Amino acid sequence: MNCSFSLHSDPSVFLVFHLLLAHSCRGQSQLIGPSQPIVAKVSDDIILPCHLDPAEDVVAMTLEWTRPDLDPNFVHMRRAGQDLVDTKHPSYKGRTSLFINELRRGNISLKLSKVKLSDGGTYHCFIPKLDKRSSVELVVASGAVSSPVIDLVGTDSNTGAVVLECESKGWYPEPEVLWLDGEGNLLSAGPTETVRGPDDLYTVSSRVTVEKRHSNSFTCRVQQNKTNQARETQIYISDDFF
Ligand SMILES: *[C@@H]1O[C@H](CO)[C@@H](O)[C@H](O)[C@H]1NC(C)=O
Ligand SMILES: *[C@@H]1O[C@H](CO)[C@@H](O)[C@H](O)[C@H]1NC(C)=O
Repeated sequence: MNCSFSLHSDPSVFLVFHLLLAHSCRGQSQLIGPSQPIVAKVSDDIILPCHLDPAEDVVAMTLEWTRPDLDPNFVHMRRAGQDLVDTKHPSYKGRTSLFINELRRGNISLKLSKVKLSDGGTYHCFIPKLDKRSSVELVVASGAVSSPVIDLVGTDSNTGAVVLECESKGWYPEPEVLWLDGEGNLLSAGPTETVRGPDDLYTVSSRVTVEKRHSNSFTCRVQQNKTNQARETQIYISDDFF
């Protein structure tokens, strides 16, 4: 929209023009969400940021937080100065609130308490009257990852190779598993086996066949890049085993 204008010689025309302009340029403010995903752990209390810039008082406006992948998709809805609880998704009942004192400054950030794994996803903040929308991605990580455990599960006396197995529990989202030798070189391993438990957390395991030429020390590293979580365990195998 082009909001520039030039002065008109007739002041009354200018006034009308100016009023039209003020009306049509309204809504130039934008809803701003975070550029990076918000990362939280299960049971955290968090804030999903969303604010109008430049600021505008939104206390009296309808304000909506939704998750398009849910049905019903309302996470939080405020209308006529009241929070509507009946229309929202049952999973969010009693866990969401707006910061009432911030609404005057156009800040409609959402407080979400006792985060669950199922809260992970894309949220939209929306002000229908201004037709402004923004989105916030929430990544929920398990707060219970275990350090990998390495077991020696086999040897081959002919080739002098040793088979190692690594297992780690309690992950979410699904992590990747890497094997490294003593110099930090990546070893080629079998496929990672992933099992999802009744608690929705992932247990991962991976096997690798190593020979003495790789060195005697091996590391199993389990990592989840989105949530910036990593755990590793090192094993030292004495020469007698090869
Ligand atoms: C919006 O309000 C929340 C909660 O008070 C605060 O953490 C956040 O910094 C505010 N955002 C802006 C842009 O002021
Ligand atoms: C995770 O990050 C590491 C280090 O930056 C990178 O080597 C690896 O490829 C990434 N993994 C995935 C699945 O993106």
